[in-house]
Amino acid sequence: MIRHGAGSMFLLILALGVLAWAQDAATSVTKKSEEGGLVRLPAPRLDGPMSVERAIQGRRSVRAFSGEALTLAELSQVLWAAYGITQPRPDGPAFLRGGLRAAPSAGGLYPLEIVVVAGQVTGLPAGIYRYVSEKHVLLPLRDGDRRLDLCQAALGQSWIRQAPAAIVYAAVFERTTKKYGQRGRDRYVCMDAGHSCENVYLQAQALGLGCCIAGAFDDDRVKQVLNMAAAEEPLCILAVGKTK
Ligand SMILES: Cc1cc2nc3c(=O)[nH]c(=O)nc-3n(C[C@H](O)[C@H](O)[C@H](O)COP(=O)(O)O)c2cc1C
Repeated sequence: MIRHGAGSMFLLILALGVLAWAQDAATSVTKKSEEGGLVRLPAPRLDGPMSVERAIQGRRSVRAFSGEALTLAELSQVLWAAYGITQPRPDGPAFLRGGLRAAPSAGGLYPLEIVVVAGQVTGLPAGIYRYVSEKHVLLPLRDGDRRLDLCQAALGQSWIRQAPAAIVYAAVFERTTKKYGQRGRDRYVCMDAGHSCENVYLQAQALGLGCCIAGAFDDDRVKQVLNMAAAEEPLCILAVGKTK
């Protein structure tokens, strides 16, 4: 009886071991394939030749682009200014997702998702990418140059397809409304986006680039072009590039 019990126990431990190994293998395959396509961005620089005052003074909405490509370093800098982690908090609460960021956010809940529609960026295949602030990387979402699709979704505003890249802001309202309710939806999420967008404007100006925001677009078409999740709502599009 004792022998039989020990044998069963052995088999149970063996089965659990095999199960744990199988689960581990499955997880690492998923992790590998998710991380395999990530695009590492150059580290952002923390100084530059233009003062913040000059950037504020000089900033304008630019809708005429030279046709030159953006460099990956320029794109990286602009994304960092938008939503980069400026104070890592690896042991902070889960909702922080890595740390405090370049733009303020109500409750530190960071409801924005930042998606890049890249057409002409040196060293980056044309496609759609999600900016992952926690790792300062791009996660590929779709292949190919989708600027014309985005331009059409934005009521044909032609400068959107002429810019080498566009940054599309989406909101996951629930991250903010679960704490702040309707006030979060009516006010905070859009305030969060406004803060982040102005950072992009000023960073672009400081890099000698131009950008323009578009709030006029067909929500459903933008969602379709970007293949957005149901919980994400597009808020605005910022086209960025070298000024003509
Ligand atoms: C929320 C918001 C939405 C906007 N939407 C558009 C747009 O769809 N198309 C466009 O050409 N400009 C758009 N703009 C840019 C404004 O037209 C521009 O900021 C304004 O004319 C002032 O010019 P400035 O940014 O050069 O100071 C938008 C600006 C904001 C703040």
